[in-house]
Amino acid sequence: MAWPSLTVAAMLGLGSGALAALKTCGPSQYDPAQYICHINNFLCPITAGEALSLCGGACYSTFMYTCSANTLTLLPAVTTPFTLAVSNPSLPALHNQPVSAAGLRWTLAGPTSSYCPDVVGAACPPGNATAVVASAGRAAMDVMVPGGQAVYLTPDDWSVGYTQAHSAYMPGGSLVEGFGAYAGGGFVNLNGDGWGWVACPPVTAGGGRWRLVGRNATSAAALAGCDAVNLRVVPFGGSVGAWQYA
Ligand SMILES: *[C@@H]1O[C@H](CO)[C@@H](O)[C@H](O)[C@H]1NC(C)=O
Ligand SMILES: *[C@@H]1O[C@H](CO)[C@@H](O)[C@H](O)[C@H]1NC(C)=O
Repeated sequence: MAWPSLTVAAMLGLGSGALAALKTCGPSQYDPAQYICHINNFLCPITAGEALSLCGGACYSTFMYTCSANTLTLLPAVTTPFTLAVSNPSLPALHNQPVSAAGLRWTLAGPTSSYCPDVVGAACPPGNATAVVASAGRAAMDVMVPGGQAVYLTPDDWSVGYTQAHSAYMPGGSLVEGFGAYAGGGFVNLNGDGWGWVACPPVTAGGGRWRLVGRNATSAAALAGCDAVNLRVVPFGGSVGAWQYA
C-alpha cells in the first residue's frame, strides 16, 4: 500500500498549541515529529518511527517498496532463512533488538527459547537465534524437527504464535496467511488493511517480555498502549535456526 502525500496544512489537524513547533514545507506547515518534508514540497508521514520516502507523488515504506524512475516496486521476496530486528528509532529500548521465539510466541528483546534432544547430539543447531522462513504469504520457524513449526496470528489478540513441535494444532480462527517478507526490507503483516505490527509491553510486573502483535482497524484503540514497529529482515548466517523452538 502507498500513502498519498499531503500538501495542505489543514489536513494535519493540528491544534494551535502545536504551532510553535511547526516547520514549513512549500505552501504547508507541518509538525516535524509527525511528518517529513521531501524536496521542500511534499509531506510524508512518519509511521513506526520511519519517515516514509517519496516516489513520484506517493509516500512509501522502504520495508516493502523500492522506487525507480518514479515508480514503486515491491521489494523481492526473501527466499532464504532470516532473523528479524525491531525497527523504530523513537523506541531506543527496542530498536534493533531481535524478535525471539519463547513460549510459542514471538517476543521482543529477549533470548531465544529452543530445545534439541540429546540423541541429535552434534547435529543440533546452536538454537540461540530465532530464524524464520517465508514463502507465498506464509511463514514458519526455521527448524529441523519433523513437521516443522508454522507461524500464525492467534485469533483472540493477533499475537504471533508458532505451533508446538510434533503438533499442527493452532486455535480455530488463527491466521496463517497475509505475511510478506522482503529482501532488504521487512516482514510485514498484510492482514487488516495495513495497520502493521505493534510492540506491547510486558503484562506481568517484574518480568515478562514485550510481545509482537498485529493491529487492525478494530483493535487499534485497544492497542493504544502498544508502540508501532517495523520488523527488519536480517539474512541468517546459518541454514537452520534450531531443532525446535520452545
Ligand atoms: C550463538 O552462538 C554462537 C556460538 O555458539 C555465537 O557465535 C553466536 O553469536 C550466537 N548468536 C546469538 C544470536 O547469540
Ligand atoms: C482484528 O484483530 C482482532 C484481534 O486483536 C481480531 O479478533 C479481529 O477479528 C480482527 N478484525 C478483523 C476485521 O480482522
